[in-house]
Amino acid sequence: MSNEIKKVIVTGGAGFIGSHLSERLLSLGKEVLAIDNFDDYYPEDIKRRNITSLLSKNGFRLSEGDIRNYDFVMDTFKSFSPDLVVHLAAKAGVRPSLEAPLLYQEVNILGTNIILEAMKKLGISNLLSASSSSVYGDCPNIPFSEDDPLAMPISPYGVTKKNGEELCYAYHKLYDLSILCFRFFTVYGPRQRPDMAIHKFSKLITNGSKIEVYDQGTGSRDYTYIDDIIDGLVGALNFVSTNPSPFYEVVNLGESVPINLLKLIGLIEEGLGKKAQMIMMPRQPGDVIRTFADIQKARDLFGYSPSTSMKVGIAKFIEWFNNPW
Ligand SMILES: NC(=O)c1ccc[n+]([C@@H]2O[C@H](COP(=O)([O-])OP(=O)(O)OC[C@H]3O[C@@H](n4cnc5c(N)ncnc54)[C@H](O)[C@@H]3O)[C@@H](O)[C@H]2O)c1
Repeated sequence: MSNEIKKVIVTGGAGFIGSHLSERLLSLGKEVLAIDNFDDYYPEDIKRRNITSLLSKNGFRLSEGDIRNYDFVMDTFKSFSPDLVVHLAAKAGVRPSLEAPLLYQEVNILGTNIILEAMKKLGISNLLSASSSSVYGDCPNIPFSEDDPLAMPISPYGVTKKNGEELCYAYHKLYDLSILCFRFFTVYGPRQRPDMAIHKFSKLITNGSKIEVYDQGTGSRDYTYIDDIIDGLVGALNFVSTNPSPFYEVVNLGESVPINLLKLIGLIEEGLGKKAQMIMMPRQPGDVIRTFADIQKARDLFGYSPSTSMKVGIAKFIEWFNNPW
């Protein structure tokens, strides 16, 4: 039995990952409705540019609104009647969540609950939901695996993402929704959020400004190229369409190749052809020491196979950075 997915709602569709996913879904012949409130976490103008080329494409629609608004979500879901929801809208970013933990709760937990409630009420069964590697906190076991009992978030952001997973699990158990929660590991590539290290450092180095290097540059991250993440989400969509019985899974999507911050800066310097001026700083509260994804589960479930090395991915990012959109 198959469960064909033709119509997809992408919350956060004007954001970094959402705009790439919408583009790919359209190229696969899906109808896409993007929901976004153009939140001010980073400039609205950037998000508008992310979707400029999509707005003229057949099959793409934008609905501007806030996922915290229950009536808006209900009306939009009801009128579009999707086969699948991809829930990416969120307050992202670890450090800002220490400044505004209540707002993070509202958007990431209440907002997710409203999405789930609308799906339950309207009989929409399939959800792919964005979680984060931040739920692992300083988990001592590496690589991080989905069922590790020592995964404990150490930032308000990480807690909201863990809570989002738990809400998804409860709705799966109670109402038979089919849900995959994805723990994304630092995603980068063209249109990456301007607050994220690769983008921020590229801008500062280009301008000749100093960059702050936390934890003496020793911290390491598993950076994942955007096309690999999108391949993973498309693999998951195919998994949904061929598995009609309700399921719930938490799945890591990373590259499984962590590199340390100083090495990352070296790659950016190489790509830009310019040296960074660094100021060494201590580790920041809420920041984790390392991230490192075990991606076996994604491989087993839907053949996830990331293939973009940091060298190639950084070169592609810098190509876009030098000539954006
Ligand atoms: N980029 C990463 O490295 C990364 C890593 C782990 C998890 N994630 C998660 O993936 C998802 C997408 O991340 P991204 O990097 O594309 O971020 P992003 O900020 O570029 O995209 C999120 C989008 O959601 C929208 N949004 C925010 N609040 C909203 C609200 N209340 N109502 C409607 N729309 C709202 C924003 O305007 C934005 O366009 C997020 O859930 C994030 O937590 C991202």
